[in-house]
This record gives sequence, C-alpha cells and structure tokens, in this order.
Amino acid sequence: MKEKKINIIGAGNMSYAIVSGLINSNYKKDLITVCAPSINNKNNIIKSFGIKNSNINTHYSDQADIIILSVKPQSITSVCQDLNKINLSKKIIISLLAGININILTNLLKQDNINIIRIMPNIAITTNHGIIAMYVMSKINISDINFIKDLFSRMGMVYQLDKESDIDIFTIIVGSSPAYFLFFMEAMQKKIESMGINQCDAYNIILETINGITYLSRHWGNTFNKLRKLISSKKGITESAISIFKKENLSLIIANAIDVSMNRIKDLKNLKT
Ligand SMILES: NC(=O)c1ccc[n+]([C@@H]2O[C@H](COP(=O)([O-])OP(=O)(O)OC[C@H]3O[C@@H](n4cnc5c(N)ncnc54)[C@H](OP(=O)(O)O)[C@@H]3O)[C@@H](O)[C@H]2O)c1
Repeated sequence: MKEKKINIIGAGNMSYAIVSGLINSNYKKDLITVCAPSINNKNNIIKSFGIKNSNINTHYSDQADIIILSVKPQSITSVCQDLNKINLSKKIIISLLAGININILTNLLKQDNINIIRIMPNIAITTNHGIIAMYVMSKINISDINFIKDLFSRMGMVYQLDKESDIDIFTIIVGSSPAYFLFFMEAMQKKIESMGINQCDAYNIILETINGITYLSRHWGNTFNKLRKLISSKKGITESAISIFKKENLSLIIANAIDVSMNRIKDLKNLKT
C-alpha cells in the first residue's frame, strides 16, 4: 500500500478511534497529524499516541493527501472556511459527519475538483473490529477508492454503498446502534448487581453471554429469530421474560427510537451553509 499523509480535523472520540485503529494496524505514526482549536498535550490522542498536532486547521492540511473531517456538524462551516484557504483539488476529503451530505460539503468547500468520500464508522474501529460504511463520489478514480477501502479495512469490515442516502441508515445501524446494545447491557448489569452479584462478575457474565451468542448466531443463517425461539420455549422461564418485552412492545419502542434518530439526521441536513 502506497503511503499517504493523513490530516485529521477534530481531536475527539472518533478521531481517537481512527488514530488508534491506524496505529494498531502499523500505519506509520509520522504520516498522521491532527488539528483542533484547543488541542494540547492533555488531549487523549496526543497523550496516547504522541502524534504531530496543531490548533490551526490549515497547518498540516496543506501537505496532506487525505483530510479527514471528524468534527460535529455544527463546526463544519468554520472548518470549511479554513480549508478554503488551501488548494484541495489533489486531495481526498473524507467526511465522517452524520447528516452532512456531499451537496452541503461541496457548497461549503467553494472550490472546483473536490473529491469527497463519506465514511460512517463505529467506535469499535478503535480496536480494529469496527464496521465502516463508505460512499464515494462517482468521479473519484479507482486507485484512490481502493486506497481508502484498504485504509479503513485495517479498522474493520467496509461496506461500500451505491446510494448516498443509505449512509443515513448506516449512521443508525453502524454509528449509533452500539449505544443501544450498551444501554441494554447497562440495564442488565444494574439488575444483576441488585440481585447480589458483584460488579466485576456481572460485567464479565454479560460480555461472555454476548460473545457466546454472537458465535452461535453465525451458525443459524441470516436471522436471529430461530435461535431466540429455540431458547425461549413455550411456558418456560425465558419465555416469561420475553412475554414482558412483547407486552411492553419493545420492538415498537426500538422502531420508534430509530425513526426519531432518522428525523434528527434530516434536521442536520437543514444546516445553513
Ligand atoms: N461518536 C461516534 O460514535 C460517531 C460514529 C460515527 C460518526 N461520528 C461522527 O464523527 C464526528 C465527530 O464525532 P465525535 O464523537 O468525535 O465528536 P467530539 O468528540 O465532540 O469531537 C469533536 C472535535 O472537533 C473539534 N472541533 C470543534 N470545532 C472545530 C474546528 N472549528 N476546527 C477543528 N476542530 C474542531 C473539537 O475540538 P475542541 O474540543 O478543541 O473544540 C473536538 O476535538 C461527528 O460529525 C459525528 O457525526 C461519530
């Protein structure tokens, strides 16, 4: 793989995850830089990885082959104002931003020949077990596409999408859903602890249960339903708990929560440019 210089704009959670995923996969530290307004030695990325950094966005962007936008949607206008001070035509811009589509980005980056790839990763890229959805502007050449695919394959499983609008669905199933599962695990841990199991055991039991069921599910085809039914036999103990989930319509609660998140993504698209 040819080496390319990567500058990351933003030094928060996702930037940390990317730097960690790249360094774990032996990407050269010297090829990675990070910029954010208040970055200093106390920042986790700098404390953990000691990579070159600046509080001026144009500082390393100028020399970078790849610029990764990893800021909140609310900051994108000011980041693009900074980036418009340099020539972006030979660079690949990778955006992680939820809801901010290529149309909004090209309006903000007031230059010709902008190459944008949208990426939607989840936090598990930190330890190279993530999922990464990717949508590429049609004019980007195949060698650049393959480079970016290889780059993110170091951090997890990459899905290349045909339609940009599918990024919104992947924002939920890839980006947000880890928090749903963690919420369920938190509730389980709290209840188990209240029944007298110590915190450490409760934590490990939940983790191992998820590990075990993940392995087992792989042998049961492309559905979770059959295996779930197998272990919740009629009038049994497990079924008595599932019947509460059904009575409270947990499936509908999950579907409603996803709809609310989809609407939140639509709100981000109305960002004034
Ligand atoms: N978190 C996830 O699981 C996840 C998953 C998929 C995609 N995403 C996307 O990833 C993006 C980043 O999310 P995050 O969770 O990493 O956010 P975060 O932790 O809040 O980090 C945002 C970073 O942006 C920096 N920043 C703010 N204004 C800036 C500016 N004008 N120029 C340069 N940097 C600036 C902040 O620096 P200061 O602290 O100095 O202000 C901070 O380091 C979001 O757009 C989100 O949609 C997140």
